[in-house]
Amino acid sequence: MSKIVFWSPLHGQGQTSNMHILALILSLLYKKKILLMQTHISMNNLEGPLVGKNVGIDGSIDDNIFQDIGLDAAVMYSRINMLNKNTLESCCITFPETSLLLLPGTEIKNGEIFEQDIGRNVFKVIEDIEKYVDIVMIDANSGNNDLSFKMISSADLTVINLTQRRYVLDTFFQEYAGRFDFGKVFFLIGNYDKNSGYNISNFQKKYRKYLGKNNSGVIPYSTRYLDALNECELLKMVRNVLNIKRFAEISSFGRMFIKKIKPGRFQNDETEYFFYQACQSAEKIVTKLNLAENKSFMKRRGA
Ligand SMILES: Nc1ncnc2c1ncn2[C@@H]1O[C@H](COP(=O)(O)OP(=O)(O)O)[C@@H](O)[C@H]1O
Ligand SMILES: [Mg+2]
Repeated sequence: MSKIVFWSPLHGQGQTSNMHILALILSLLYKKKILLMQTHISMNNLEGPLVGKNVGIDGSIDDNIFQDIGLDAAVMYSRINMLNKNTLESCCITFPETSLLLLPGTEIKNGEIFEQDIGRNVFKVIEDIEKYVDIVMIDANSGNNDLSFKMISSADLTVINLTQRRYVLDTFFQEYAGRFDFGKVFFLIGNYDKNSGYNISNFQKKYRKYLGKNNSGVIPYSTRYLDALNECELLKMVRNVLNIKRFAEISSFGRMFIKKIKPGRFQNDETEYFFYQACQSAEKIVTKLNLAENKSFMKRRGA
């Protein structure tokens, strides 16, 4: 139903990690059907934290869990007009007791071949996917990338991933600000340190022409999150903290994060503060997408 493109002016801004936590919150707490995908050729940590291995790294044929699935397979089905609910799911990695689908990235390593085979066809793939999920989240290449900007122009929302580094902010506002429709943008500051002078309030004041409370949020730095990413235990960690065991349930602890509780309640615990702020950002994104509960694909289908 909706597509969100994640983009940043420079790589290494925590873009993929920001997308991960938002996807898990929207799936586990908001019960949205989410599909995660990427348009990077290599060196992007999308699959690893969820399945223990990243696409594009050669292993023996036997343990290549990405063989015959992922974006390359989805493109093949889409080109012959056969990317439907079943074939899409066969291209994805699914996770028990969640509504999450992970479409691994391409195995192609050559830029020109990628452009010819995948770049041209990925728009139709996304159009097809949209019919079967609530939100498709696309981890796009950072910087001045043609494919990324084409996807941004057709996205319902672009999440611009920034950090509290002056160089990153200057790069964005000087080089890219003119290229966005700010009605369809959400600013997300990753690896966030609330004690920095470059905090979200000062950021909102300094750049008020572009952003306010409703179109900006943060994903704080969290040691526990960093460890979960490194140990490829992301889903387990999020489930543990939110105390969610079954898909149908939302624990009272999980519910607390999506209620409008004053942030002071979570100020002193790094992990709670991380989840509180991530949930606030997720809530603003849902509001921006106007995805009211009753519009949820899964509710309509009774899933
Ligand atoms: N909120 C966070 N807390 C702790 N570590 C983080 C956080 N966000 C990102 N990281 C770490 O920072 C590194 C870069 O993040 P990544 O999401 O891969 O960046 P990008 O996709 O922009 O290149 C990763 O190793 C990740 O583990
Ligand atoms: Mg990345």
